[in-house]
Amino acid sequence: MFGRRTEGQPVPRKPAAAPAPAESRAKAPPAPPAPAAAAKSPQVKPVATPKPATAARTGDHRSENYYQIKTTIFNALIDTIDLTQLAQLDAESAREEIRDIVNEILSIKNVVMSISEQEALLQDICNDVLGYGPLEPLLARDDIADIMVNGCERTFIEVNGKVELTGIRFRDNSQLMNICQRIVSQVGRRVDESSPICDARLPDGSRVNVIVPPLSIDGPALTIRKFRRDKLTMADLVQYASISQEGAEVLGIIGKVRCNVLISGGTGSGKTTLLNCLTGFIDADERVITCEDAAELQLQQPHVVRLETRPPNLEGQGQVTMTELVRNCLRMRPERIIVGEVRGPEAFDLLQAMNTGHDGSMGTLHANSPREALSRLESMITMGGYQLPSKTIREMICGSIDVVIQAARLRDGSRRITHITEVLGTEGDVIITQDLFVYDMEGEDEAGKIIGKHKSTGIARPSFWDRARYYNQHHALAAALDRAQG
Ligand SMILES: Nc1ncnc2c1ncn2[C@@H]1O[C@H](COP(=O)(O)OP(=O)(O)OP(=O)(O)O)[C@@H](O)[C@H]1O
Ligand SMILES: [Mg+2]
Repeated sequence: MFGRRTEGQPVPRKPAAAPAPAESRAKAPPAPPAPAAAAKSPQVKPVATPKPATAARTGDHRSENYYQIKTTIFNALIDTIDLTQLAQLDAESAREEIRDIVNEILSIKNVVMSISEQEALLQDICNDVLGYGPLEPLLARDDIADIMVNGCERTFIEVNGKVELTGIRFRDNSQLMNICQRIVSQVGRRVDESSPICDARLPDGSRVNVIVPPLSIDGPALTIRKFRRDKLTMADLVQYASISQEGAEVLGIIGKVRCNVLISGGTGSGKTTLLNCLTGFIDADERVITCEDAAELQLQQPHVVRLETRPPNLEGQGQVTMTELVRNCLRMRPERIIVGEVRGPEAFDLLQAMNTGHDGSMGTLHANSPREALSRLESMITMGGYQLPSKTIREMICGSIDVVIQAARLRDGSRRITHITEVLGTEGDVIITQDLFVYDMEGEDEAGKIIGKHKSTGIARPSFWDRARYYNQHHALAAALDRAQG
């Protein structure tokens, strides 16, 4: 048996005075391989009395007794195995090893449990030792969009647009902190009192934000945007009624004919998803460069270069900003530039790129309406230190952006594209826009679901008509707009 501590057995042990927490496994230094066979009966140290149980909360799926047993068994396990050696094993063998030992501890301690409880206990303990602990079952689910952990006691998830409280809980805040530490250490970062905020990514691509005390008052707060392998397509958006069939066709044409597009929306409104859908209409022979803070886009074309910004390292050095990435892009002979999220002075560089022969560039931005998106763009440029009169900035915006698409998460949790809006030009100091499609809310049904429709505003010839004709898409555009009016 691997890594088991047995009496008089020469398996290397960690110093008794400083037991490594289970969660530090990922960073464990290499250790010499353990002897292949060890004595059968593990020496289980007397187990400390578990902490008094807290009152069971609503939504917990397991009994308080279960958590007490788990703590007892977990402590005995940690005292029995050598985590450093366990770290040498592949995940499957390590799980097997833990299973064997836990089964033995259960029988030595005469713990009475049903088979299903025993199975759940084994699973939970394996997750604690080898993975992300109580988060594992949530991470394994594909239907979850976000996981939000507010301290050790409360974990919320978003499923089907609705946020709900789960029965998941951590032993205490230090277990949660250890899991946060394990996540961020994978991207070479550290989170503690002196650097209490950190962005990271899970191996599956999920985006993670961690903020810990003293900034978060009631224990570490962990937010995970789950990475969706099977990204939604435009057909899915139509199926979910996020956009009408005709609206989707117009969006496809906007993507194909190389309009410069800004996708606007609130947090989690579906901006990145929509951007990903639009990139599906880019021709396979175009050279596309994507710039993101955390790579989320999944372009299917063969000629794509993906770039990612870099946060400063522990010494506060080595940062590469979005502005630097976008500027560098211009030296990479791009045909289109895609910026995951525009939030600062890179807005200026993106607009310039759009203006100088990189038609079909796209980006997303946080705003609640197309008009607000344009004014946010203006303030990003102003705050970036560019001393330009606002009229010039507005003209630049109009010369660059062709279409603003607004995404929204409605109060029933559904996501809708609420506006497809063209940017026409300026009149005096004012930017003139024109809606092509809007989502019209009509009310809600008994179940609280919002009822509404995507409506065409009756524009038959959008301002990108000539562009559509140039790419031979004008018939399709006219047909889609006609049907939308009918
Ligand atoms: N039209 C849609 N219908 C149903 N679910 C959607 C839709 N669009 C996006 N989602 C889901 O909503 C979640 C958030 O989407 P997305 O990451 O695109 O939002 P975002 O606006 O980019 O968020 P953020 O502001 O955090 O970057 C994802 O899990 C995604 O799969
Ligand atoms: Mg996003």
